[in-house]
Amino acid sequence: MLDTVHYKTRQREAFRDDVVAGLSAAGKTLPSRWLYDDRGCELFERITALEEYYPTRTETAILRQHAAEMAELCGPGASLLEYGAGAGVKTEILLGALHSPRAYLPVDIAGDFLDLTAARIRRRFPRLEVQPLVADFTTDFDLPDELPAAGRVGFFPGSTIGNLDAAETAAFLRQMRRHAGRQGAAIIGVDLRKDLSILLPAYDDLEGITAEFNLNLLHRINRELDADFAPDQFRHQARWNEAESAVEMHLVSQCAQTAAVDGQVFHFAPGETIHTESSRKYDPAGFGAAAQRAGWRVEHIWTDPARRFAVFGLKAVPNRRFE
Ligand code: AVI
Repeated sequence: MLDTVHYKTRQREAFRDDVVAGLSAAGKTLPSRWLYDDRGCELFERITALEEYYPTRTETAILRQHAAEMAELCGPGASLLEYGAGAGVKTEILLGALHSPRAYLPVDIAGDFLDLTAARIRRRFPRLEVQPLVADFTTDFDLPDELPAAGRVGFFPGSTIGNLDAAETAAFLRQMRRHAGRQGAAIIGVDLRKDLSILLPAYDDLEGITAEFNLNLLHRINRELDADFAPDQFRHQARWNEAESAVEMHLVSQCAQTAAVDGQVFHFAPGETIHTESSRKYDPAGFGAAAQRAGWRVEHIWTDPARRFAVFGLKAVPNRRFE
């Protein structure tokens, strides 16, 4: 109980520090990880079912179609390490195809969510050892010592890797390589570059669910940090940043206004934006090169007929430099 109270206090402090730092910067910004409170998770679930949001259904179809080849790559007796628990049906497709998998280790910062995931997977795969790990996968953490070195497979679906910047992506791929070890493998979902007529509506749907998801961040700041944002005075915007090869979400101030957060006042000019998320889109060679620099060899690139999305199958390069 004390631990939970402690965790909540630390979480609030981290949120406040990020909001104050981000709104004090010359180009105002807020880290995208704060989009996911309960309401944000609910809205994101609805986004994944939208007609315009192709990544979820496309990746799921690729997994279904190529699960047997993915199982080949993983080998028998695999221990599946999932970074960010709760890909739901995607996890079940892969686990269901693996040859006598040994263990499933979902890693997530949200303990309650992890417990739900673990319970669901235990019900579906009663013979599998399920070992949830509470950790922030964008920071350094170690796996349990008793986990056998052979057969470790990192799984990072959903194109969540696109929400990391270049340095975070490199660090993440290196950490996954260290976890997997010299005999390990990885399966990573990556969204690909494509025409803006497909990309932009995926982040600005007609029903306005993505707008609500983005604006919820201001509601969350009001709820949790005693702030007085007027969310209806901001508008959601999705824009393409060619230099970063990313779709960005912004909140655009509709007028000259101020907002107080925890006693500090921030000014917004009309048209000024808060950058809330980048969603990087890769070309297959570019992502392959990033994986290679982190100690991986590209074994397979599974994709859909329209080449919208790619699932990378990677094998560890056995070199001590990466261990
Ligand atoms: C979680 N992540 C992969 C989503 C994406 O596509 O970047 C988050 C999202 N933001 C707006 N729509 C979906």
